[in-house]
Amino acid sequence: MSTNIDSLQHETRRFAPSSEFSANAVATAEIYGRAASDPEEFWANQSRELLQWEKPFTRTLDWDNAPFAKWFSDGRLNVAYNCLDRHVDAGHGDRVAFHWEGEPGDSRTLTYADLTAEVKKAANVLTSLGIRSGDRVAIYLPMIPEAVISMLAVARIGAVHSVIFGGFSADSIRSRVDDANARLVITADGGWRKGKVSPLKPTVDDALAKEGDHSVQNVLVVRRGENAIEWTEGRDRWWHEEMATAETEHTAEAFDAEHPLFILYTSGTTGKPKGILHTSGGYLTQTAFTHKNVFDLKAETDVFWCTADVGWITGHSYVVYGPLANGATQVLYEGTPDAPHPGRWWEVIEKYKVSIFYTAPTAIRSFMKTGRSVPDGFDLSSIRLLGSVGEPINPEAWIWYRDVIGAGTAPIVDTWWQTETGAIMVSALPGITTAKPGSAQVAMPGITVDVLTDGGAPVGNGSGGLLVVTKPWPSMLRGIWGDPERFIETYWDKFDQPGATNRRMYFAGDGARLDEDGDIWLLGRVDDVMNVSGHRLSTAEIESSLVSHPIVAEAAVVGAHDDTTGQAVVAFVILRADQEDAQTPEEANGILRSHVSEQIGAIARPRQIFVVSELPKTRSGKIMRRLLRDVAEGREVGDTTTLADTSVMQIISDKLHGTT
Ligand code: WTA
Repeated sequence: MSTNIDSLQHETRRFAPSSEFSANAVATAEIYGRAASDPEEFWANQSRELLQWEKPFTRTLDWDNAPFAKWFSDGRLNVAYNCLDRHVDAGHGDRVAFHWEGEPGDSRTLTYADLTAEVKKAANVLTSLGIRSGDRVAIYLPMIPEAVISMLAVARIGAVHSVIFGGFSADSIRSRVDDANARLVITADGGWRKGKVSPLKPTVDDALAKEGDHSVQNVLVVRRGENAIEWTEGRDRWWHEEMATAETEHTAEAFDAEHPLFILYTSGTTGKPKGILHTSGGYLTQTAFTHKNVFDLKAETDVFWCTADVGWITGHSYVVYGPLANGATQVLYEGTPDAPHPGRWWEVIEKYKVSIFYTAPTAIRSFMKTGRSVPDGFDLSSIRLLGSVGEPINPEAWIWYRDVIGAGTAPIVDTWWQTETGAIMVSALPGITTAKPGSAQVAMPGITVDVLTDGGAPVGNGSGGLLVVTKPWPSMLRGIWGDPERFIETYWDKFDQPGATNRRMYFAGDGARLDEDGDIWLLGRVDDVMNVSGHRLSTAEIESSLVSHPIVAEAAVVGAHDDTTGQAVVAFVILRADQEDAQTPEEANGILRSHVSEQIGAIARPRQIFVVSELPKTRSGKIMRRLLRDVAEGREVGDTTTLADTSVMQIISDKLHGTT
């Protein structure tokens, strides 16, 4: 990481927006002043302007019971109505909501009128299956229109969705279903990935067949892959059959602003994923505001494409809620970037004339590797703005993105936020901010962040420390499902200042540096959370999966630098004494890599597993991951003086050089 910081500190290139872009930009510079003078009033105005409240709110923020916030608490609204019917009622029913593109090349167009009609029917299907306001519904679908339709139908009836990324395993599905007591799972037979159908329903079947009672009464199955599946009579229902007979009319009922909207599980520092809870009015306000201003959205003319899967927060906020609240036209793409050919994404941009494109640095770096000849083969002239999210973007990738995809002119917005923050918190505003490659730059209007020392003092410009959000914000997480204590401990205890007027500050878990202008440069996680291809993984979760295998005695996992994926999972394992001669390190490697894949999902599969005889521990028994990271990244091993046994690192290095 130190080399990374050095290169960032020496980055001096600056890119001002063109005068033409600035002249037509949605956001104007005075917005910052307005927001700073009264942030609550600012958010209240945004909310009234961007959303339609059935019952207007009179109270903006209730922080009396900090850190449990309430925004707009006496107002009532329906989130799905705001994303759908409202636009149809305003005469925009014919506007395209989604240009959907399947991986094998099939496509569908859904206007706002079409999407509204589908969601109304789906809401009736859910009700007929006994789903009521407050019930939890798990969604395990590929990137097909039914994923969005399902989420909005759940929201429309006041139920709570828990979307599970299609790459997660049966175990991961089951633990999420159990934690939230989901009554219904919506899935598909399969979806297209990398040129073939990847099955989904069989994984749901496995999840529900696992030991113990579960709460699921029905499984609703969308037909997409046409792969063979098994059927549990009474429990399983075909989506298309239910939709064919569903009532077409459905009136959206308004719910309280703080009514739960969704739970999304994310990795933390312990083995068990956290169910991050988001609610309705504040979440929709900030996703709509940021989508409109950060992406300079002109809803009548722009075509917006966010490449994230709806299984992640980026898909929730910038494929579903923000863009649809703003009445945007979007692209939704089912597959991988390189199937059936390496230029697939650029072909999609050319076909639908995408004007705003939002993706992750890991994707940009993998395109850089293949070379610019691939994108150069397509007409990308429709692009006028580019966005980046999920991990720090290195200046080289930033410049390539702007030059090759953005014709050397498109502004880039590097957006920092998290599952927990719900919406963008730190980003340039195009048309206003002079961009610095590699820096996420400035807090959104209405948001206040700071960088503190471990002891809680502001570091000031020119120094690095820990990123905090100093005041509550509308789309903030409202808690961890079923675990208020963990919510307080994880995010609010570190910088709790009893007696101060603003005693609770949100600890993000990211390191950051303020440059001489006060702009923010993100430096990666400071806890045991890794970021692999922009996806969050927990070292503890992978360690506990490894030690659950009978051949493993102990395991330690680190995130090692990787040129393409940002970080890669590297594991160190000690085998049980009776296993040491039973398999070669290569065999153990294969067994354990597939074990982690089965238990968590392919994204968590370690890039490398080193079989070792010792792990470096402090006298109190804590594993020193820093030293293992040195080994994994091929660096000279750092200070070992706090180790209980200082010869351990020598033993590990000797062993590795013997085996690799
Ligand atoms: C990282 C994704 C640097 C960060 C929206 C954060 C970033 C974690 C950026 C959240 C960025 C996200 N620059 N780092 N622009 N955006 N991160 O919950 O470490 O999947 O804490 O949310 O991703 O990941 P999550």
